Amino acid sequence: MRHSTQRDGTGQPIPLHGSKGFEGMRRAGRLAAETLDFVAGHIRPGISTGELDRLCEVFMRAAGAVPATIGYQGYRHATCISVNHVVTHGIPSDDKVLAEGDVVNVDVTPVLDGWHGDSSRTYEVGRVPVKAARLVGAAREALAAGLAAIRPGATLGDVGHAIETVARRERFSVVRDFCGHGVGRVFHDAPQVLHYGRPGTGVVLEPGMIFTVEPMLNAGRPEVKVLADGWTAVTRDRTLSAQFEHSVGVTGDGVEVFTLA
Ligand code: MF3
Ligand code: CO
Ligand code: CO
Repeated sequence: MRHSTQRDGTGQPIPLHGSKGFEGMRRAGRLAAETLDFVAGHIRPGISTGELDRLCEVFMRAAGAVPATIGYQGYRHATCISVNHVVTHGIPSDDKVLAEGDVVNVDVTPVLDGWHGDSSRTYEVGRVPVKAARLVGAAREALAAGLAAIRPGATLGDVGHAIETVARRERFSVVRDFCGHGVGRVFHDAPQVLHYGRPGTGVVLEPGMIFTVEPMLNAGRPEVKVLADGWTAVTRDRTLSAQFEHSVGVTGDGVEVFTLA
């Protein structure tokens, strides 16, 4: 494994992947996207997040993958499912039943031949309030803007700034306590990918870098707290939150998104 001479904000060396890595990520990423396409067909008022989790687990295993989250730092589920004011790392439960008007993020990471395809989308349950739909749209657009800033020579600060610019324009806030991450054979690797930043600062992108971009936007303030279960992160002010995530690679002249639908 080659590494960049650059280090990320935590001082870790940043892996540079070759064609084998890109091929592995293409397959794992496609399965992540297929899993999210599949689960979309099951999201409706009355279904529990526990049931959605089981559906995703069966789907991923049937394709020959293993869910990366099972056994990860003691986590026991195949997905994270985060409803309304839950920002990220929501724990699926048979007791958590979706209702009309909810917004729900499903985050999956199938491991296929050792490669991790990490992706999430936020879905609307039936008809949702206008503000909720605007938040979901802004989160989707913020991710797209971040991805559009990725090319060799651009910086992670450019990516974060592009995300923040969309959020600010829509009068939403960007969560600062969770970030994107390098991904590959390792689930959470260098570099750290912040969803805010100043143009021209931070790691300079090089071909072969592979990482996630996964901005969380809040309708209210950006602060989060983690509940006593040690996982569930919620907005401190209990306002809605929405997130989208893709796994991407820096190519010779731009970006390849591994987890497109
Ligand atoms: N898939 C999440 C991410 O985007 C990580 C979930 S770790 C878990 O990085 F343990 F909470 F599942
Ligand atoms: Co991730
Ligand atoms: Co994820």
